[in-house]
Amino acid sequence: MSKLFNIRFTWPVPVLLGGLLIALTANAAEPASLREAAQARGKLVGFAMFGKPGLDAKYDETAVREFNVVVCENAMKFGCVCPAARGQYDFSVPDAIVGFAQTNKVKVRGHCLVWHFQQPNWFSRGEWSKHEMGDILHEHIRTMLTHYKGKVFAWDVVNEAISDSKDPHEIYRKDNYYDVLGPEYLDMAFRWAHETDPQARLIYNEYGTEFGGVKFEKMYQMLKGMKARGVPVDGVGLQMHIGLGAKNQTQKLGSTIRKLGELGLEVQITELDVAIDLPCDDKKLQTQAKIFGDIAATAMEEKACTALLMWGFTDKHSWLPQFSNGKRGCGLIFDEQYRPKPAYSAMLKAMTK
Ligand code: XIL
Repeated sequence: MSKLFNIRFTWPVPVLLGGLLIALTANAAEPASLREAAQARGKLVGFAMFGKPGLDAKYDETAVREFNVVVCENAMKFGCVCPAARGQYDFSVPDAIVGFAQTNKVKVRGHCLVWHFQQPNWFSRGEWSKHEMGDILHEHIRTMLTHYKGKVFAWDVVNEAISDSKDPHEIYRKDNYYDVLGPEYLDMAFRWAHETDPQARLIYNEYGTEFGGVKFEKMYQMLKGMKARGVPVDGVGLQMHIGLGAKNQTQKLGSTIRKLGELGLEVQITELDVAIDLPCDDKKLQTQAKIFGDIAATAMEEKACTALLMWGFTDKHSWLPQFSNGKRGCGLIFDEQYRPKPAYSAMLKAMTK
């Protein structure tokens, strides 16, 4: 004991301080993971989980090491959670994902309650009156938010409601919700979600709006109107399914986030991937890394941006090849063997202060 005591005090103070400084700077310069880097900046960094936990140990390990928020890639969608008949919910897969997240202190985003795609057949093929469809939607929102109350901190309440038309006056996508309920379905959905779980952050999620343009303007006006009517919308999800062409556009992301922030909305980047036209090569990977790095830096710097999630993390499990007939892929930050790609290092660097 006395020997230890002696040793401690025989080290000159400047050496001790110097050592401490090196330890601190080494730590600051090199967080062990994206999760650690994001935590230090008070932000969330995350991924969409394909399938469910327990299928591949390497996948699960990498996920909890790197991320502090998860979203189900498919499991919470209407068509997945309620496939067979009205009122018959099967929560087994999303519950497994939520349980895995809780065990590993990872937050959960909910995706998504109202969407034109991946609806159950019993619903999309049905003929509904306005009253019936309103009832079904209300019931679905109430069921989901009751089941996940206190477990899902943010919900994509409405996904992809804005029309892709270049016509600035054509605001809404003409899907079955719009056709039967009219544009009021958006306000209704947010109000119903808020009435069931007043604590949840309620998000409007959209693609193709991150760098401004006609579609962004439509979304902005729609959200401004909702805010003015007192609709409980808390934030916007920018999906960000982009490609290498985004290289010269990333500087526009900051102003998009600030404009939405000025409306009193938080911004979450919800589905980032940077698709590459296959085959992939080193040059393309470097361009991709630059894009991921720029976006991560903006997400960290902009106060209104609270989260950055990618639509997966390993190229082994990505929707891109399947959705482009094998033409595009390689859009995430780990390769198929779970090795970090240049995009991973660029993100880590950009997120480290
Ligand atoms: C995709 C999934 O990744 C696929 O597995 C599924 O077959 C179709 O949907 N925008 C969204 C996501 O909001 O839900 C989509 O996910 C990708 C585009």
